[in-house]
Amino acid sequence: MSRYWSKAIKNIKPYTPGEQPKDRRYIKLNTNENPYPPSSRAIEAIKNAADETLRLYPDPMCEELRETIAGYYRLRNNNVFIGNGSDELLAFSFPAFFEPAGKPVLFAEITYSFYPVYAALFNTNYNLIPVDEEFNIPEEGYYQANGGIIIANPNAPSGKGVSRETIKAILNRNESSVVILDEAYVDFGGQSAVKLINDYPNLLVIKTLSKSHSLAGLRVGYALGNEDLIEGIIRVKDSINSYTVDRLALAGAQEAIKDDDYFQETRSKIMKSRERVSVRLKDWGFKVISSQANFIFISSERCPGGILFQRLREKGILVRYFNKPKINNFIRVTIGTDVEMDCFLEAIKVIVRS
Ligand SMILES: Cc1ncc(COP(=O)(O)O)c(C=O)c1O
Repeated sequence: MSRYWSKAIKNIKPYTPGEQPKDRRYIKLNTNENPYPPSSRAIEAIKNAADETLRLYPDPMCEELRETIAGYYRLRNNNVFIGNGSDELLAFSFPAFFEPAGKPVLFAEITYSFYPVYAALFNTNYNLIPVDEEFNIPEEGYYQANGGIIIANPNAPSGKGVSRETIKAILNRNESSVVILDEAYVDFGGQSAVKLINDYPNLLVIKTLSKSHSLAGLRVGYALGNEDLIEGIIRVKDSINSYTVDRLALAGAQEAIKDDDYFQETRSKIMKSRERVSVRLKDWGFKVISSQANFIFISSERCPGGILFQRLREKGILVRYFNKPKINNFIRVTIGTDVEMDCFLEAIKVIVRS
């Protein structure tokens, strides 16, 4: 603690990112990265972009990438905003759409733990919607007075998805609030709300290339919504940093989106592995929350979550453990390659039997 820090920074409890270990080689199933490499076309494009043009600033509006993404979703360029990972888009959304010290923003009690951190940083009041034992979020929770809504769909760390019909109902009941859908994991079997954008001026969908496009290291995310919402985020960006996405990232993201065959192939491989591993774990008596994401959230009556985490770590397998009420008996396991998942299954079988 430094006496030079502002009060807000003294009081904040920052987000803890998943570990990126350096002490040894692990099977890394802890940060929901994609186990498959990025599209080779994307890597080639990044290499080609590493030339003398790097002395120039990138396009602050990312127009070419905007156009590619707009075309992909049959939207217009002004429905698209590109950012430095979806975390940045979420952060920009707070000052853009939520009134400081105003009506509470709603999000689930168990969800992406960055939301309360942004709320603290931007002085945003919030109400948590309690979840049930299966991590379902009751729809009625979103039918109270609010200054905005954030829904991770599928949710993290549970992996549970919400149907487009439910999202529609929530949008219908909240016309005067901005409803943000964080679709970081939607490509692994969830129902995207992108189709609703032209019908709902208050809907902002946030997506990322970090998970389903294997580009967590490139830092590219995008927001899709009505042009007025997009204009709101641009105003925040241009009040903080006009050049958030660099030339290499723009080049790589462009090709990754265009290489749709590779995207389809890798995401379906992950979904298949997820189903295989889930069935096996259930056979062995694990509780496995039904997942539409590239991870599973599991617990065992035979071994507490914290011990599972520790024992797996000792065996060279990293998963994520959250020591928080309601979820402290679970571990979150990112879906890796089939070989990695076989090692994981073998290790966890030995742990619960001993
Ligand atoms: C629900 C959710 N949203 C957003 C993100 C951020 O993704 P990125 O900033 O890499 O786009 C994550 C990353 O783990 C996440 O779990």
